[in-house]
Amino acid sequence: MSASPPTDAQRERAAKLRRELHEHNRRYHVDASPTITDQQYDELLEELARLEAEHPDLAAEDSPTRRVGGEPIEGFETVPHAVPMLSIDNTYDRDELRAWYERTLKALAKEQTPEDSSGSPLFVEGGPEQAAEIRLACEPKVDGVALSLRYENGSLVRAVTRGDGTRGDDVTHNVRTIRAIPLALRASTEAERPAVLEARGEVFMPDDVFTEVNRQREAEGLDLFMNPRNSTAGSLKQKDPAKVVRGLRFFAHGLGEVEPAEAFASHGGFLAALREFGLPTNPAIDTASGFDEAWRYIENFDQRRGELGYATDGVVLKVDRLADQAVLGATSKSPRWCVAFKFPAERVRTVLRGVEVQVGKTGKLTPRAVMDPVLVAGTTVRHATLHNFGEVARKDLRVGDTVVIEKAGEIIPQVIEAVVDERPEDAKPIAPPDACPVCATGVQIETVEDQETARYCPNPDCPAQLRERLIHFAGRKQMDIDALGDKTVHQLVDAGLLTSIGDVFRLHEKRDAIVALDRMAEKKADNLLAGIEASKARGLARVLGSLTIRHVGGSGGKAIARGFGSLDALRAADVEAIAAVDDIGPITAASLHDFLHSDAGRTVFDDLSAAGVDLTEPMAAASRESTESPFAGRKIVLTGTLESFTRPDLAEKLESLGAKVTGSVSKNTDLLIAGEAAGSKLDKAARLGVEVWDEAKLLEALAETAG
Ligand code: IVH
Repeated sequence: MSASPPTDAQRERAAKLRRELHEHNRRYHVDASPTITDQQYDELLEELARLEAEHPDLAAEDSPTRRVGGEPIEGFETVPHAVPMLSIDNTYDRDELRAWYERTLKALAKEQTPEDSSGSPLFVEGGPEQAAEIRLACEPKVDGVALSLRYENGSLVRAVTRGDGTRGDDVTHNVRTIRAIPLALRASTEAERPAVLEARGEVFMPDDVFTEVNRQREAEGLDLFMNPRNSTAGSLKQKDPAKVVRGLRFFAHGLGEVEPAEAFASHGGFLAALREFGLPTNPAIDTASGFDEAWRYIENFDQRRGELGYATDGVVLKVDRLADQAVLGATSKSPRWCVAFKFPAERVRTVLRGVEVQVGKTGKLTPRAVMDPVLVAGTTVRHATLHNFGEVARKDLRVGDTVVIEKAGEIIPQVIEAVVDERPEDAKPIAPPDACPVCATGVQIETVEDQETARYCPNPDCPAQLRERLIHFAGRKQMDIDALGDKTVHQLVDAGLLTSIGDVFRLHEKRDAIVALDRMAEKKADNLLAGIEASKARGLARVLGSLTIRHVGGSGGKAIARGFGSLDALRAADVEAIAAVDDIGPITAASLHDFLHSDAGRTVFDDLSAAGVDLTEPMAAASRESTESPFAGRKIVLTGTLESFTRPDLAEKLESLGAKVTGSVSKNTDLLIAGEAAGSKLDKAARLGVEVWDEAKLLEALAETAG
């Protein structure tokens, strides 16, 4: 491409456009008072983009045109935080909040020297009979995704998610598309710009943007996002920056690494400086002197938070003076100088239109309320669980009732009660089913003290149960067959290709029939078959945990597998021998013993064994006896590049020492060995609290085993 060099006039015009666009961004996001329309903004942006396209050497890294158009990436790199991103201690209770305040006051009073109190405007002295008060920053707790933005010499160099607090995902390429986040800090005369500045804050999606995103997804036949926060997180994890939702916003609320370190004296001062630099902070932030004022802020904020247009779930109180923050310090989880007061879950009313019955993997019939859609805690809700029919009866719910529902954060919406005063005359009582809605088998009712606690379809061949069991079987924490998800299970069951767990391992004989299915293709079918093949090596613990044996879950399966070492040994055991395993009680033991010797149990294990599924497990005893081999009996995952080994060689070596080396990190993983450039596995291990060794530690342990 032969681009002509820009003329001086063009160079100046480009610089001017960049300055203006940055300034308009700031007015919009920081001052919340734009002076031009979105359309005018777009016109300026287009003009600049044209100039830069014609004269590539005009294009600056921090140009507003550089927000979109980045290349899609392969995966996210995990990077450490220079200063950990801690979480906040929280409370729902005023007295607890007051206790935090009193504690803080006491801790600071002890440290306070006379010079501090005289020289500092931050401690507000009352009259002689009044106690000193602490100045607190009061901030909305925005329900978004935490992000750390690193600016070096004024330029945005990195944006990282919170991750596990010590390491997060580098999402810079996506964050650059967010207009609220400046690519370059504004040089300011009032606040000197630090050479390094890490600003932490919250990216969030306003409610109207969320509604629009879901409207579009619905039109495109895609799954809807649960709430604005999930939708924001999904956006940040896009591989293609062009797919990041427009309209995300950002408020800075904290400090990471800063150089020079003593750049700021107070939290309020720091936030004011950020605004000078062009970083938005929440306009609803205020300060309070002492607890009573802070409490008034909280009450007042609760009144108006419904009108903000974005989700908040509390108020964060922070000791304003940074020197005081330093005195108070932090626990391993959260700083002592801040606390979140959380608002109780929101309750809203809607109308109950019907009750559906869902058949679970154990045959349990769970009633589910179908309601007029209603927005609660930032999510549109149409369904709520009713737990069991005993509860439906106790709450005396009728179809047509106005009901009160509640949703706290992540938790599934609950029906609290019917508003009996508003019950229409034609409201219909809800009759519990006497037969399974899918296979029509008569139900079994479980009661505790005459109260119904559950209803079951007792037919093990019920197609609904089979589907749920298969979905569970293939699930990530069980046999981890990625390609066998909900939809595929439904398809295969409907097509008659899966009629039992054993059939999963006979699917390879039916490849043609699979390929012929709707929206299947050769590649997808082969993926599925490869995934099934790979799952054969998961070991007995996973197998036991995957079969929906009553009372036997993931941890039970592990305990039993390690106690017996093989299916053959387990099959030979009586109930007492099973109950003798650590962590296994008599009820679990009896249930497992029944299953092993039932027709269904015998069939499934014979099928698995015939298919070549690994039905053994390294025994716990082995790991206990060999303190010399720190690997025996442990499930180990390898990731990253190692200097001294190839991964296959290392896997072989560790297996020879009694370890089980698997491909993916799960909660059953005992140890992750991470070489250089480890990525998502390391991230996941950190999240799940799995022990992680680097190569040096590995070599040390191997040396000990050898010696
Ligand atoms: S301060 C060390 N201020 O809440 C504490 N956090 O529950 C640093 N959050 O991960 C956080 N609004 O993502 C702070 N005004 C605010 C906040 C806020 C929302 C989030 C933040 C944090 C989470 C902890």
